[in-house]
Amino acid sequence: MAYSLYSSIPKKPLSSILIPSPKIIFNKHLPFVTPSIFPYLGSYCTWSVSRVSPCVAETDEHHHASPGLVAKEYSDLNLPEKFSEDVGNLRIRQHVNPLRRVLMIPAEAPNWKEVFEDATLPLMVDIGSGSGRFLMWLAKRNTSSMNYLGLEIRPKLVTRAEYWVNELGLKNVHFISTNAMVSFQRVISTYPGPLMLVSILCPDPHFKKKHHKRRVVQKPLVDAIVNNLAHGGQVFIQSDVLDVALDMRNYFNAVPDKLVHIDSVDPSLPCDSDGWVLNNPMGIRTEREIHAEFEGCKIYRRVYQKV
Ligand SMILES: C[S@@+](CC[C@H](N)C(=O)[O-])C[C@H]1O[C@@H](n2cnc3c(N)ncnc32)[C@H](O)[C@@H]1O
Repeated sequence: MAYSLYSSIPKKPLSSILIPSPKIIFNKHLPFVTPSIFPYLGSYCTWSVSRVSPCVAETDEHHHASPGLVAKEYSDLNLPEKFSEDVGNLRIRQHVNPLRRVLMIPAEAPNWKEVFEDATLPLMVDIGSGSGRFLMWLAKRNTSSMNYLGLEIRPKLVTRAEYWVNELGLKNVHFISTNAMVSFQRVISTYPGPLMLVSILCPDPHFKKKHHKRRVVQKPLVDAIVNNLAHGGQVFIQSDVLDVALDMRNYFNAVPDKLVHIDSVDPSLPCDSDGWVLNNPMGIRTEREIHAEFEGCKIYRRVYQKV
């Protein structure tokens, strides 16, 4: 069965401020992309705006520096401005502390046959899926070849995402409100199909050293991802904060017998001299990525493959 892990190119040309979309090469299991020339946008991102208003990704319309950019990039989704009254207007400004006792209770696995039309399809899991637009965009392009699952700790974002999924009539994307640190293994180990891609994109940075233990990428999560990933499955991580990217990289580099970095198996995904993947391989940027690049930040990416 041929399917695409990564998405196809957006049909409409994006605005000139957006990065060019990569070209896709399909192969049986891992249709990597041939990246386009990617303009290096420069300096280290300080999250200076985001420190005042952290995790701006899900509230693009309120972002000071890049209003409308997210709506523009995701215009294909044509999401309704209004969502159900009980969701309300989402202005979420604080990082969640995932170690709070109430958030340490693992979620139950869903009945997969109820949440996906075909629960045997290859699965992509996005950890910290924010608004969910990123997964919906991918799901819309791969309706019959992939399932998409978002794990997001903020219930309101999940409620809104599920509302949008309903509006779009998508049967291959689902969101669970949970702390991925404690639920990943329990939930994903029950999925009937192969886990082919896990993404952790611009996770909350938790800057203070004493808060690093709140960062989502910790050894138990990495072990759970590696153990559940199908042979040939991939992990895509990125951050606009170098320290966070290095932290994640160290964790995933620490299992070299299970995971290899993509540049050693696929030269079509080039890296810079420090080993960061140059281009976004998905055909769509996440919301945080859009804002960060607008501010001139570099995105530090790694793509691993299970061997
Ligand atoms: C900075 S936002 C990035 C959102 C999106 N990935 C993007 O790139 O635009 C980080 C997201 O991860 C969620 N998050 C933080 N810790 C989490 C955890 N332990 N489990 C699940 N989601 C988490 C936050 O609520 C937030 O929506």
